[in-house]
Amino acid sequence: MSRPASPKSKAGLVLLKGETSKAPGTVWLVGAGPGDPDLLTIKALRVLGTADVVVHDGLVSSDILDLAPAAAQLISAAKRKSRHTYAQAEINAMLVAFALEGLTVVRLKGGDPFIFGRGGEELEACRAAGVVCHIVPGVTAALAASASAGAPLTHRTTAQAVTFVTGHAARDQEPDLDWAALARANHTVVIYMGLSAAAQIAGRLLGAGRAASTPALIVVDASRSSEQRITTTLGNLAMTASTLTGPALLMVGEAMALAGRDEVDRVPVLDNLIAGVGA
Ligand SMILES: C[S@@+](CC[C@H](N)C(=O)[O-])C[C@H]1O[C@@H](n2cnc3c(N)ncnc32)[C@H](O)[C@@H]1O
Repeated sequence: MSRPASPKSKAGLVLLKGETSKAPGTVWLVGAGPGDPDLLTIKALRVLGTADVVVHDGLVSSDILDLAPAAAQLISAAKRKSRHTYAQAEINAMLVAFALEGLTVVRLKGGDPFIFGRGGEELEACRAAGVVCHIVPGVTAALAASASAGAPLTHRTTAQAVTFVTGHAARDQEPDLDWAALARANHTVVIYMGLSAAAQIAGRLLGAGRAASTPALIVVDASRSSEQRITTTLGNLAMTASTLTGPALLMVGEAMALAGRDEVDRVPVLDNLIAGVGA
């Protein structure tokens, strides 16, 4: 798909020229879901269709980016551990600058913008600049992983609570978590960004008293055609994780014993949906 040239330099020009004559535009923080375009919400699809500029994460699939208007500028703000294309402050400034230029800015983020997505920081930057910012929730990766594995996050008997935690805190520090609470039985713990810290996390949970036999599930690339689901136990979590790469969730809890090996139904329905929305 051909796109207008060099959005990056356009952002630079905006900042240098400081244009303020146009009515301010709006920033939309939109959750793109876990990858499968069929898991995009109808609202996300509608808002994406209005974008002048789309600033997207690395985890947003190309199938979803293809749904942006052909005239929209696409800017990758992909961030990888220790290899940031843009620092968060630069992304915040870019969103504000485009909006002040009068553009409709869609900040497209993997999963949900407010689940380990730094959506809160971008919202604060917009508010501080007086830019209107709306949030469109998305299907967070844990929901897709649990659904495709057939492993419920809550269950009346074996999972009376679910907690989402990060394995990767700011400035590479260990996350400040209540390990005793996370080690309680009949409680599902979902760890985002946990692959490289799996040994440390498993050690903390075991040390706080969670049984080594507790069922665990790792889902890589949830909802994508490349999805992998690996069932294991808390005791073997670190060893299993060490063999894997890619965006992955570690899920620990008694209800993970329900994870099946069934093939997931991936009948694409998006084309029909788009026809319906456009009608
Ligand atoms: C910066 S967080 C963003 C989470 C996102 N906002 C969400 O709600 O899903 C990135 C982490 O989310 C998890 N993740 C995102 N998409 C995933 C997917 N399709 N499959 C498995 N894990 C995923 C991985 O743990 C990844 O390292």
